[in-house]
Amino acid sequence: MNAKEISLEEGKVKPVVDHLNDLLANYHIYYQKVRGCHWNIKGQNFFTLHLKFEELYTAALTTIDELAERILTLGKSPYSTFHDYIEKSAIKEIQTIGLKDTKMVKAVIEDLAVLISKEREILDITAEAGDDGSNDMVNRFMQFNEKNTWMLRSFVNED
Ligand SMILES: [Fe+2]
Repeated sequence: MNAKEISLEEGKVKPVVDHLNDLLANYHIYYQKVRGCHWNIKGQNFFTLHLKFEELYTAALTTIDELAERILTLGKSPYSTFHDYIEKSAIKEIQTIGLKDTKMVKAVIEDLAVLISKEREILDITAEAGDDGSNDMVNRFMQFNEKNTWMLRSFVNED
């Protein structure tokens, strides 16, 4: 299967796939970080943040699967090893054991900024390639991340 079978130009799809794969790697590292926050959260915000982190990593899991399957739909292979994820991701792992609750939230806000910036770049690339399917999908991810940035920033009381 190649991009031609869904009426897209093979050459134009290459940068889309490369960027979707890069985003996939970033989401994997982000996913595990948020999962670590969910496990290791302590203190009076436990019940609020334990639940919020679960909502975020559950959404990330769906996003990861959608990204990988979009790459396959475009006729290419998604990165599938942690070796690749760690090597390619701009988002880096952190130790969440013993991390203060507000520091966890700030770490997640920072990662969301990276994801949003990458997603905004992909919107341009997919528009250029005429790939409305990827464009629409990534736009949804970005809007979810934007909204959660607002909520998490409100939680830590930052403008
Ligand atoms: Fe859990």
